Formats: sequence, structure tokens, C-alpha cells
Amino acid sequence: MIRKVPQDFLLGAALSAYQMEGAAGTDGREPSVWDAWLARPGSGYDGRAASDFYHHFEEDIAAAAAHGLRALTLSLSWSRILRANGTVNPDGLAFYDRVIDACRAHGVEPFVALYHFDLPDAYAREGWLAPGTTEAYLRYARVVFQHFGDRVRHFLTMKDPVTEVMQGYITGLFPPGQHFALGRAVRAPRFTSRRRASACTSILRTACSRMTTASTTCGSIGIAHRAEGVYPLRETKADLQAARRDDVLTNRMLLDIVLAGRMSLRTRSLIGEILPDGESFATNDEELEVLGRAAAALDFFGVNYYASHFCTKPTDGTSRITHNGVGERGTSAYEIAGISRRLSREDVPTTDWDWNIFPRGLYEMLLRLHEEYRAIPIYVTETGLGLHEHPTDSVLEDDDRIDYLRQHLAAVLDAMEDGVDVRGLFVWSLIDGLSWTNGYDKRYGLFYVDYATGSRFPKKSADWLRDLAERRIMLTLNAIHTRTTKNAPD
Ligand code: BG6
Repeated sequence: MIRKVPQDFLLGAALSAYQMEGAAGTDGREPSVWDAWLARPGSGYDGRAASDFYHHFEEDIAAAAAHGLRALTLSLSWSRILRANGTVNPDGLAFYDRVIDACRAHGVEPFVALYHFDLPDAYAREGWLAPGTTEAYLRYARVVFQHFGDRVRHFLTMKDPVTEVMQGYITGLFPPGQHFALGRAVRAPRFTSRRRASACTSILRTACSRMTTASTTCGSIGIAHRAEGVYPLRETKADLQAARRDDVLTNRMLLDIVLAGRMSLRTRSLIGEILPDGESFATNDEELEVLGRAAAALDFFGVNYYASHFCTKPTDGTSRITHNGVGERGTSAYEIAGISRRLSREDVPTTDWDWNIFPRGLYEMLLRLHEEYRAIPIYVTETGLGLHEHPTDSVLEDDDRIDYLRQHLAAVLDAMEDGVDVRGLFVWSLIDGLSWTNGYDKRYGLFYVDYATGSRFPKKSADWLRDLAERRIMLTLNAIHTRTTKNAPD
């Protein structure tokens, strides 16, 4: 089947500061929580050098443009820009000036995320649960908007807050490394969303109104969420319940907050079901008012999609997580007492890291956003496939990645045909980089990075994307996205 990709559909790729920049101690960059986290005994890798985007950004951005990419999402490192003592680091701003200027010189639209997991170490103690952290974030946001607002048209306040919360408070794989702290996992995104969303929006608006002239346009502001399908493994009552409970924690709560500006009664009752005894959950009028204003002011929504999850009833009252961090298929386990146990389905292929390859989940999530929340422009801000890769003479035939991208782009085109306003797709990632919990052996890049020498070369997928960007035509399999199972059923 031949699919046409609309001319104005943005094809891009994504990067993040901590995962790609390296140069951890350069030009006044202060420590982030990840520096300390990856320096702990037995960690096995760190982010000090990463892909050295800091010294290769011109080459990387030029290569992206030469491969037809018209946009990049990149995150800024908070600890490069604002020091713990509250003063601005001009060298940090100057680095991102150079990056943004390079994007503009190559006709690449930068989508700038203020934050992608790398909290400055100065706020490590209580993290996002401390009011001081959000106050500091707002000061940082003000600096960013005032400095870059005249050149950057798209900002993201944050990438993937739920992943940060789930890994930080449930699986213990991200700092602060807590396990099964459900109360905190529920409080953190709500607490930070409220302040962050409202204040960022008003700061951006004020900065924009000052800067908008005949020659500049006011920027737009969005947030990206890892929005993945959560399905019952079988159509049994117990599996349906497991899927609903898993979904409220990983999707529904944040989608309600960010897109609707309130939590429905159903959402609140599901949160009540999963919270442990003694943990309360209440919202007040002031919070609802702020969330409502913030939701109404959101200009676009970013969807990060990699996999979907199939849930069954937990086996007993014990939570267990076994992380497959080395890409040995079949070694992972995920079970949270009182919520769900995630399993694979025989008919759904998985990656070496046990992630289900399920493009229909992306199609159905896009439909869900469109049907259940307000119509808002959507970008797929991250999607991609992690692989073990070993090139021969600077040639890497990553056909599995091309297949993955083809199927997921087809899912997006299907959703657009069904009325969803999707404006573009960003491949994770432009270049190989650090995978937070898997190190450097899980590669996602369109461009291969030789970490020993810093040299890069395009993989076959980069050439495939260049061809797609030029011809806007793609071959796909037939009808893989037929809606048969309702996502996260009520
Ligand atoms: C996304 C994150 O959720 O998942 C990225 O925003 C991350 O930073 C990506 O790299 C893939 O995850 P992983 O664990 O395979 O690197």
C-alpha cells in the first residue's frame, strides 16, 4: 500500500541535553542529579562525555538538514544556564545561542524543551516534591523565555514527567531511586504540573507580548507526555481492572490535568483505588482554577510513544520489578501490588529490551486524545527503536528501525485520516546517545556515533528518511491498525 505524507507534515528528530551533550564540567555547567546517580558504585556508565553533541552540534545539525529533517526537539540543561546561587551562566546561554543559530542557518525549526529529567543537583534532596524546586524552575523558565523567545517559536515545558516520576518513585531506576512509593508518584506530577504549567504559560505570554512586532511571532508552548497504550491482556474482569488501574497512574491522571485542567470523577475514583491506605488525595478550588487556566492556554501536546503494555491481575501482594537493562530478551518483570502485572502477548513482537512493538497502540492513543480531550495540535515528539548495533566499515543496515518507523508513521497517518490534528513526527533520536537505564549499548540514532572517536555516519534509516522527506511517499503493510480493542476501557 502506498501512503502519502502531507508536504506540511513536519519530519524531525529529537535530542536531549544529558543524553547527548556530554561536556559535563565545561563552561560552568553545574552538576545534575544524573551525574551523582550514575557515579554510584556499580553503575557501569556515565554521562560525562555522552555523544559530545557539545562539540559536534554544527556537524549534527548540518547532517540532519542534509537528510531532509526540518525540525529538531532538543532540551536545555538547566544546570548549564542557571547556577545554584540563582545567577545566570552567560557561557551556558551562549552555547544554546550557537545551537539555535545553527538550526536557523540550516532551516531546521528548533522545538526547545526546558527540561528532560536532568534536575540540577542542588534540588536533589526533595526533588519536585519541594516547593523550592518549582520556584527555581520558574526563575529558570523566565531566563530561557526572555533570552530565546525572539528566536524560538516552540517551547516544551517538560518532556515525559510521568516517566521521571514512575522511574524515580516506583521502579527506583531513576534518581531519587525510591521503590513503590505510590503516594509520592501520585503527588509529584500533580503538584508540579499545577505550578509549572500556569506560571510558564504566563511568563511566556508576557515575554511574547513584549517581543511581538511585525517581524516576530509569538511562541507556542506545549508539553510532551509518554502516552502509551495500556490494554487488558485478556478480556476478563480482572485484567480490565488491572489495565484501568495501570492506565490511571501512567496516562489518565496527567492527561486530565494537562489537557482538561481538572480530574474527572472517574479519574479520582481510580486514583483512590490505587492509593495505599493512609494516603489521601484531594484537590481544592484554587488548584482547579490554576489547572483550568493552564490547560486552556496550552498550544500543542507532544506524544512520546515507544510501546504499549498488556496488563493482568497482580499475582499476590508483592511488587516486583526486574529491569532488563542489557537487552537480553525475556528477562524483565513488572508487577505492582494492587495495580497490575505487565506481560507480553505471544502475537506481539518485542525488542531485545522486552518492549512490545505495537503501532496500533499509537493510533489508538491519538484517537483517544482527540475523542476524550479537547482538539489540540499534536506532535509525536519521540518515537523510535533501540537496537544493539555493530557497523562494518561505516555501514549500518538498520532495517528493523526502518520497519518500526514506517509502521508508526502509518499509524499516525491513519489517525490523521480519522480526524486527529497531528502536525509532525520526531524520531528518537537524531544521534546515538545515553539510554538512562541501559547505557550506551541500546542505540536509537539515525546517525551512528563512535563513542571512542566522536565520529558519526548516517545509518540506512537516515537515508530512508531523507528519501521520504523528499518524495513524501511511503510503502506500508495493509490494515495493521484496525480498531478492535478499546484502549484503557472504562
Ligand atoms: C523516553 C525518554 O521516554 O524514552 C528518552 O524521553 C529515552 O529520554 C527514551 O531515551 C527511550 O528510553 P530508553 O530507556 O530505551 O533509553
